[in-house]
Amino acid sequence: MSHVNYTRWAKYILSIAERNGRKIGTVLDVSCGTGTFCLKLAKRNIRITGSDFSRFMLRKAIGKKSAGTRMPFYVLADVKHLPFKCRYDMVVSLYDSFNYLLDKSDWKLSFQQIYSSLRDGGLFIFDVSTFYNSVYVFRNYVQKEANEQAAYYRKSSFDKGTMIQKTRFEITFATNPKMVYRETHRQRIRMLDEIDRLVLDSPFHIIGRYRDFTFEPGTEASERVHFVLQKRVQADGRIE
Ligand SMILES: C[S@@+](CC[C@H](N)C(=O)[O-])C[C@H]1O[C@@H](n2cnc3c(N)ncnc32)[C@H](O)[C@@H]1O
Repeated sequence: MSHVNYTRWAKYILSIAERNGRKIGTVLDVSCGTGTFCLKLAKRNIRITGSDFSRFMLRKAIGKKSAGTRMPFYVLADVKHLPFKCRYDMVVSLYDSFNYLLDKSDWKLSFQQIYSSLRDGGLFIFDVSTFYNSVYVFRNYVQKEANEQAAYYRKSSFDKGTMIQKTRFEITFATNPKMVYRETHRQRIRMLDEIDRLVLDSPFHIIGRYRDFTFEPGTEASERVHFVLQKRVQADGRIE
């Protein structure tokens, strides 16, 4: 993922919090992958927990260190069944991770779990890759990357009928170049009004839907859209 600018992403996410008057001391990243985003927030003295259901990803995350920075805390967990008892100031799920939730029931469960992991007033920010992105950018996309440790190959295809984006990954590590790790990722692309309805059916309030890394409205012409949701509970404990 060396092509992703996580420094910019971290700044953007924190600027959303600031815009909404939220002070952020604790963050949960619910599909943290190899933890680069977590480390960016940790460097800013934010206490961050990263969770992911892939042992492979978490192993990589744990291996990433930064001198003088408190390590993020990593937990193996499916976003549909979060084990956290504490309440975070903010929860994030970035880089299309919600597209990995193939069924609407997965979205529903995940929203409930994330809602329970947030303090009152807390924000949940996630992004989705759009139909536009699948059709015009990633339809038959091939990417190759290599560094001293590993070579990485990725090929994507999109089926408009099923709305499934398939990405095949092949990773070879320099320590064992004969061994090729292969993985196929399946993501469901959803139209934005469908996502709006899923949010409306959840306990969250939607407070923003932004294009790419801006504060302009996210539309079907955007490549990526960030949704900003808030937990609001009345004084008597009822959901507003
Ligand atoms: C495209 S990667 C993004 C990783 C990370 N957020 C980033 O920005 O680099 C998607 C991640 O979502 C994780 N994931 C997919 N479905 C999940 C689920 N149901 N529960 C937890 N993690 C999940 C995958 O293991 C993978 O690490």
